[in-house]
Amino acid sequence: MKLQIIAAAVAIGVALNAAGETPVYLDTTKPLEERVNDALGRMTTEEKVAIIHAQSKFSSAGVPRLGIPELWCTDGPHGIRPEVFWDEWDQAGWTNDSCTAFPALTCLAATWNTEMAQLYGKSIGEEARYREKDVLLGPGVNIYRTPLNGRNFEYMGEDPYLASAMVVPYIKGVQANGVATCVKHYALNNQEQRRHTTDVDLSDRALYEIYLPAFKAAVMDGGTWSIMSSYNLYKGRHVCQNQRLLKEILRDEWGFDGVVISDWGGVHNTEQVIDGGLDLEFGSWTNGLSEGMKNAYDSYYMAYPYLKLISEGKVDTKELDKKAANVLRLIFRTAMNPEKPFGSLNSPEHLAAARQIAGEGIVLLKNEGNLLPLKLDGKKKIAVVGENAIKMMTVGGGSSSLKARREVSPLEGLKHRAGDGVEIVYARGYVGDPVAQQDGMKVQDISDNRSAEEMLAEAVAAAKDADYVVFVGGLNKAPHQDCEDADREGLGLPYGQDRLIEELAKVNKNLVVVNISGNAVAMPWIKSVPAVVQGWFIGSEAGNAIADVLAGDVNPSGKLPFTFPVKLEDVGAHARGEYPGNKDALAASKEWGDTIPEYYNEDIFVGYRWADKEKTTPLFPFGHGLSYTSFEYGKPSADKKSLTADDTITFTVNVRNTGDREGQEIVQLYVTDKKSSLPRPVKELKGFKKVKLAPGEEKQVSITIGRDALSYFDDNKHEWIAEPGKFEAIIGASSRDIKGIVPFELK
Ligand code: BGC
Repeated sequence: MKLQIIAAAVAIGVALNAAGETPVYLDTTKPLEERVNDALGRMTTEEKVAIIHAQSKFSSAGVPRLGIPELWCTDGPHGIRPEVFWDEWDQAGWTNDSCTAFPALTCLAATWNTEMAQLYGKSIGEEARYREKDVLLGPGVNIYRTPLNGRNFEYMGEDPYLASAMVVPYIKGVQANGVATCVKHYALNNQEQRRHTTDVDLSDRALYEIYLPAFKAAVMDGGTWSIMSSYNLYKGRHVCQNQRLLKEILRDEWGFDGVVISDWGGVHNTEQVIDGGLDLEFGSWTNGLSEGMKNAYDSYYMAYPYLKLISEGKVDTKELDKKAANVLRLIFRTAMNPEKPFGSLNSPEHLAAARQIAGEGIVLLKNEGNLLPLKLDGKKKIAVVGENAIKMMTVGGGSSSLKARREVSPLEGLKHRAGDGVEIVYARGYVGDPVAQQDGMKVQDISDNRSAEEMLAEAVAAAKDADYVVFVGGLNKAPHQDCEDADREGLGLPYGQDRLIEELAKVNKNLVVVNISGNAVAMPWIKSVPAVVQGWFIGSEAGNAIADVLAGDVNPSGKLPFTFPVKLEDVGAHARGEYPGNKDALAASKEWGDTIPEYYNEDIFVGYRWADKEKTTPLFPFGHGLSYTSFEYGKPSADKKSLTADDTITFTVNVRNTGDREGQEIVQLYVTDKKSSLPRPVKELKGFKKVKLAPGEEKQVSITIGRDALSYFDDNKHEWIAEPGKFEAIIGASSRDIKGIVPFELK
């Protein structure tokens, strides 16, 4: 491979110096920094500027004169995006760019299985490699602050510990392929409504304890080679130009040596971006040009305007050298990585991975009277109802939309699994969003002009004499229904689904609701429905994975990565926070582009932390998920009664499978600080372990924690503090299903 790089460079006459030696930057036996500096030293100012901004929708230039290749990015984060035209968002119409669609990241988080995250990263990284991409624009780890956020499905839930634990193996899996992850959207991009103009402000404590840990883990433990700065503002400055976030925290505190890539169109000002910490500018529609004008790349904020300031002597090249060095380092790690494998696309292994991850992430929310798994023996009739049983879910939702080589719908999956003895009838029940399209491609049109009453009547009739009714509904990635650039308008299900579910429940007691979404939804009908499954957006193998779980071939083992509140007022951001922005500012705003401040008043009390503090009972709590078997917990214990700040403590609990089938249980460890100088959450997740148990089998589960798990962030001292005193370790099967408590002390 190294020879190939040199050969390529020789071909354009740059590789060997007069003495016939390989230049340092091409010599992969030399340390990375030496190579970066060597390459930098050979580049002109124009060449340096050329590599720090886009040259097309998804690529930036290399240094052709030196044989340094272009850098190609791709969305992310659930599969490799189809090719778009050089200069447009429309798909280019290639025929060899279909991918495997992996489950959305909420589903991955719901597996609570770090091995699944590694498998996910490895598989998607292989697809990126095969498609010759250098940077995968994902994964996303913005914290789930409100169930209205249109992009929650692309993130890993409400808890910083869970998101941190899951993002690290994803990154390692991807980067082992010589493909960089670009962890997004750093930071505080917790809503889509007014995502370009929301000016977030919050306490440092909430910033460090809730919103930053997953990014920090991505940098310090995952070693991500790039990170995407978000659209929103933080304390008055757009994040893409925000020194505090991009320099002081990311570089100085965490030691990040990768590239900060702007979200597409997130840069607004040349002066600010020069010393704002950004390295690579993408997607700008710059000033002085008509919107969307083609080939405006030379006019990017970090292109000609930057060069002009340098040539006029108004700025020096110190920051430019840093940015160019960072980009070179990324190119050496990816495009010029001599170790990178060739990758693979749509392999049977990738489909199997997608199905396995989906099967582990699907959450059994309710299963009264053990209605599930479906008993498919003998002659049975199943009425499948709901648009989401036939609608493509890999298309739509914004930049994460995919062109999947295959997508098995829930109806197909169920038909395939049920086999000949079982009759499956389908009734749509409602019309939601009948057209699946994105970026100029219409992929599915299931328009139906019947009236709502007609469709409801048909569904009820089909349900009446069926042995089971499986309703597959939820959201669908159309605008406002889990989609980029728009938030949801309420917690409720759209298109009259609540009424339909109530009517189905009236005529058939064996009703299973499969909710497809990346967000919590209200379930006013919950008491009339015996079985509810959270089905997420799960990609290519969706139908098979759902059928696996409904039929019991896979025993569900996912648990919720976020709280399902009963109503919006039970969410901190809505009860106390200023979502979707400060009310007075919103009322006074006249222009679309007005900056709207939003203070996160709920502070550190996000998700279950808020529910615990307010003592509300969620519809389904964080960490909740049932199984077809049952587990019994023993009495938890600790290896010591107290620890010092440099020490660790290990908690152990025995878990036994008391049912008659193999299953997996996720043992969760929460920590409570009994007395603290600052208010603290009632409890916080600080460890978990997923264990597989055969029927009757018992295993000992141990979880070790240290000082980190006991600390809070003190804004005034700007320091993590582990305050001596009494703590409790709470072992739970969910954040509300507590199995045992072990008191201990920090000396
Ligand atoms: C999204 C990013 C995405 C980028 C490129 C932006 O609008 O916010 O997540 O990676 O577009 O498609």
